[in-house]
Amino acid sequence: MELEQRGVILVTGGAGFIGSNFVLDWVAGGYGAVVNLDALTYAGNLENLVSLEGNPAHTFVRGDICDAALVKSLLEKYRPRAVVHFAAESHVDRSIVGPEAFLKTNIDGTFTMLQAARGYYDGLVGEERERFRFLHVSTDEVYGTLTPEAPAFHEETPYAPNSPYAASKASSDHLVRAWLHTYGLPTLITNCSNNYGPYQFPEKLIPLMIANALQGKALPVYGDGQQVRDWLYVGDHASALRVVLERGRVGETYNVGGGNQRTNLAVVTTLCALLDELVPESKFAPHKELVKYVTDRPGHDRRYAIDARKLEGELGWKAAESFETGLRKTVEWYLANAAWVESVTSGAYQQWVTKNYGERTSVAAGESAR
Ligand code: NAD
Ligand code: DAU
Repeated sequence: MELEQRGVILVTGGAGFIGSNFVLDWVAGGYGAVVNLDALTYAGNLENLVSLEGNPAHTFVRGDICDAALVKSLLEKYRPRAVVHFAAESHVDRSIVGPEAFLKTNIDGTFTMLQAARGYYDGLVGEERERFRFLHVSTDEVYGTLTPEAPAFHEETPYAPNSPYAASKASSDHLVRAWLHTYGLPTLITNCSNNYGPYQFPEKLIPLMIANALQGKALPVYGDGQQVRDWLYVGDHASALRVVLERGRVGETYNVGGGNQRTNLAVVTTLCALLDELVPESKFAPHKELVKYVTDRPGHDRRYAIDARKLEGELGWKAAESFETGLRKTVEWYLANAAWVESVTSGAYQQWVTKNYGERTSVAAGESAR
């Protein structure tokens, strides 16, 4: 089928971690053309998309999702069959230090996207109208925190966001729900667990630990390191989003997760062992000696876990990577892409590291300090 027949999708935030992985997979898989709207904040990086330079299936537009006129004009010009909305401020620690940007982009920005999509959808007729979808990419953090024995988050778990980031994403989910129920916009929501993989900005746990370990820097584990996250390889998130877009029931929410619950300390020590193996000449091995317990994140959620049975049973999705295969691929990618890490960690990144880690004191192992 020709590119044109497959249609165009409008992706927001497609220069960030998950967005760029999704766009690369989408174009490589020949699923159609992408118009990629991204403001290129500190988290957005066009280097993620260099392989698409000159490719007619990818059009990049630098702009803000809060710019209603721009979003409207893009919808009118490209007439997408779907909007896949990734753009957000995504880092919990940054939301604690400066919540304003989170409310602006995650709430106002989603509102702007919904209003523009609604105006566009209202003008569609026939097959174009039948086919149109607004897919909102959200997080499991909207559900709050779990005790060790509690069942995993499912689609009916009540919302209980605990950080400014989680609250802003919960707000955006509620707006999406309201635009479905009040205006009939054909929306879908996905709530996914922690992603990892290529192109993840080294402010997040896994790439930060890899980058620090390779330089012999301390590996800052918050509190006692016993917090649990449920890890999913980013390529599996991309495949889940494709499935939801193509076969998901309008108005439904689908939880996405890989069934890989690990404590943070276990993740860090596994990474250290992988680095010991893959960089045998490292003068910093054994890397786990670099682990340093530091002051905990305020309001730190203790455990996340996703029940993905609805997505698996209804839509037939299954993760392709185990945590072990995905983590190995990820470490290999970071080792092979030192230049990418170097380019994204210059300048403003250093200020963030000083701000976030400079004020954290060292604590004894196992002590849950605030
Ligand atoms: P990211 O921070 O790596 O990328 C965000 C992208 O959005 C960047 O390219 C940035 O430039 C862009 N952006 C930010 N503000 C913008 C604005 N006002 N207008 C246009 N573009 C803007 O984030 P990510 O980790 O790739 O997450 C993408 C989405 O997936 C987010 O909505 C996040 O809440 C959700 N999510 C992330 C995870 C995870 O583990 N990272 C898990 C579940 C859900
Ligand atoms: O659950 C999905 C969410 O996962 C996404 O919605 C967010 O966008 C994404 O950032 C991620 O949030 P987390 O807060 O779980 O991810 P982060 O990588 O920041 O931290 C993972 C765990 O590791 C968390 O318990 C905090 C801890 N941590 C993190 C950093 C950066 C440390 O112990 N030390 C660190 O230096």
